[in-house]
Amino acid sequence: MTRLLIMGPPGSGKGTQASLVAAKFDIPAISTGDIFRANVSEGTPLGVEAHKYMSAGEYVPDSVTNDMVRDRLSQPDAKSGFLLDGYPRTVSQVDFLDKILSEQHASIDRVIELVVDVEEVVSRLLRRAAEEGRPDDTEEVIRHRIELYFEQTEPLTAVYDARDLHVRVDGTGSVEDVAARIAEAIDA
Ligand code: AP5
Repeated sequence: MTRLLIMGPPGSGKGTQASLVAAKFDIPAISTGDIFRANVSEGTPLGVEAHKYMSAGEYVPDSVTNDMVRDRLSQPDAKSGFLLDGYPRTVSQVDFLDKILSEQHASIDRVIELVVDVEEVVSRLLRRAAEEGRPDDTEEVIRHRIELYFEQTEPLTAVYDARDLHVRVDGTGSVEDVAARIAEAIDA
């Protein structure tokens, strides 16, 4: 049973590494950003609501995000473990996740924080913008997403540090090197 969180600023490689870790442990990688983007593409009411915030680099309100995560974690494939990418992002999301897990008599095993400096993540995301054109990857919105991360989400690492779950991992270098560091951090 493996329940993991991956945190880090936009562009730190959460999604890239989440899929590798998930394959290794045979657990689903659950990205709130990906779920929102799928809903935006399908034009669902959730997508229409989320798009208002995502396009500006703001967080989608907890009232929307929390119920979506509760629903996803109740799916059968998440019963034997999961890797959450991009959730929790606020103190209230931490509390909500605690509540969901306590109802399931479950707990988090490890919280991986990918550490990459700001100019490196900006340049990764501008490169992605040029190659893939993700709508929230304009320089202005990227810098706002990063600011919001350091203001609201990075402080959550202290919460998991106090629970002895948080591990900082250098997110620079090749994807393979970062994956090897994460594997070590999970085993530690
Ligand atoms: P989300 O999709 O989570 O976006 P993000 O946090 O901004 O992260 P990114 O997807 O941009 O980057 P990443 O860290 O996953 O890196 P990646 O592997 O893609 O969220 C989007 C939006 O949804 C939010 O802004 C918010 O509006 C909303 N949202 C989501 N969750 C929410 C929540 N819980 N509450 C409220 N709102 C929420 O890599 C980035 C690039 O770098 C890629 O091109 C990749 O190929 C490249 N790369 C990866 N690793 C390396 C490496 N080692 N070296 C060089 N390049 C690399």
